[in-house]
Amino acid sequence: MEIFEEAYIGPVRLKNRIIRSATFEGAADANGFPTEAYFNLYKQLAAHDVAAVISGFTYITRNGKAMHPGQAGCDSPEKLDSFRRLTDMLHRYDCKAFLQIAHTGRQTMSSVTGCPVVGVSAQKSVYFKEKPDVLNIPEAHGLIDSFGKAAQLAQQAGFDGIQLHAAHGYLIHQFLHPAINNRTDEFKLNPGTGIGTFFLQRIIENIREKCGNSFPILVKVSASDDYKKHFTLTQFLHLIDFLDLMKVSAIEISYGTMDAAFNIFRGDFPGERILAENYFYKQKSPLSKWIMGNLIFPSIKKKFIELQPMYNLPFAVEASAATRIPIIVVGGFKRGEEIRHAIHDCQIDFVSMSRPFIAEPDLVTKLKKNSQYESICQSCNQCAVMCDSQYPTRCYTHGKHEVTHDSTIPFEQNLIITQ
Ligand SMILES: Cc1cc2nc3c(=O)[nH]c(=O)nc-3n(C[C@H](O)[C@H](O)[C@H](O)COP(=O)(O)O)c2cc1C
Ligand code: SF4
Repeated sequence: MEIFEEAYIGPVRLKNRIIRSATFEGAADANGFPTEAYFNLYKQLAAHDVAAVISGFTYITRNGKAMHPGQAGCDSPEKLDSFRRLTDMLHRYDCKAFLQIAHTGRQTMSSVTGCPVVGVSAQKSVYFKEKPDVLNIPEAHGLIDSFGKAAQLAQQAGFDGIQLHAAHGYLIHQFLHPAINNRTDEFKLNPGTGIGTFFLQRIIENIREKCGNSFPILVKVSASDDYKKHFTLTQFLHLIDFLDLMKVSAIEISYGTMDAAFNIFRGDFPGERILAENYFYKQKSPLSKWIMGNLIFPSIKKKFIELQPMYNLPFAVEASAATRIPIIVVGGFKRGEEIRHAIHDCQIDFVSMSRPFIAEPDLVTKLKKNSQYESICQSCNQCAVMCDSQYPTRCYTHGKHEVTHDSTIPFEQNLIITQ
């Protein structure tokens, strides 16, 4: 397999094997409608040879909205025209479009959503700290139906498929995970495999009832995580077997949960930026911030996994050996050689990236010209921390030049395209 050859996800032809992985845009208005900044961001990507984009996570219901400002929603038919405009634009560049649909479950805050936090169990997230109301059976079925309706909206808006966010500790992941799902009803863990797939199964079935069998359903999963009772390789392979049985269109392999968010993307831990922007820290007194910055953060930092190139590739290789469903691998790809290694040497169908595309929306065009190209992204994670701000996602460091954060600069001027 080669990077620059066509490949398929279900019936959808992609012009090459590089995908923009779901990346929160922070560019929707207070009601979840995409703004001009949202369209501009995607235009930059589409105009520069990306085969497909997976949108940032969009919320299916108000109680499943993230705490970050500016998240887009797929919760109402009123959004149809905006999303139709987006897919029309992407398709003009032969860039395929997948809408990522999600419910945060316990990983949000009632003060932001205006609704009680809900979850698979009453167990709190160690990061979000709010005890969720346990979803009862009718409520769980209601959310299954909302996932189906969101997929239907995506189909009507011209998306080539949807991606279910079953990774990073969000609601579907909470149902799957044996350390979080302690239910005894129909949504309990499967006795044979020890993982809770029934919620996801019903979502996939509901989407097929509403959208037909040929509408592509992609699923993003976390291969493992950092809980004491972490998801084991055996459980991960049970999950792949389940997705194989459900005949989903592609599986994207990621890692972790928001309880240890820096292990999802890895790299630097920008402590100062966290103290200035993070919802939980920015209100604290100067003394508390000093203690956090000088005593607590250094010890937290030590617990994070060091960034290695292609860090989810070993899991992707395991998955690929277990199924013929196309595998997408994400995490720590920055060099042309690494992408080639995954696709050509390891026979992984697609490589997806997030931060390198924030730093350089024209990355694929550069790789086309120079197969040895290395992204300028420094994995400093300033962009990740700034998801907590009210500004659209962008790169805060270009190459070796630190860009002063000036939130008064309009988004378009911040989006520097390096040729
Ligand atoms: C700013 C930012 C926003 C992200 N938003 C999402 C998202 O909405 N949905 C998702 O599944 N992953 C999201 N991720 C995770 C990425 O898709 C990806 O899994 C992770 O960053 C590792 O890939 P990378 O090394 O290419 O950045 C986000 C990451 C970053 C840095
Ligand atoms: S701010 Fe820029 S350089 Fe830093 S991780 Fe994000 S994209 Fe990469």
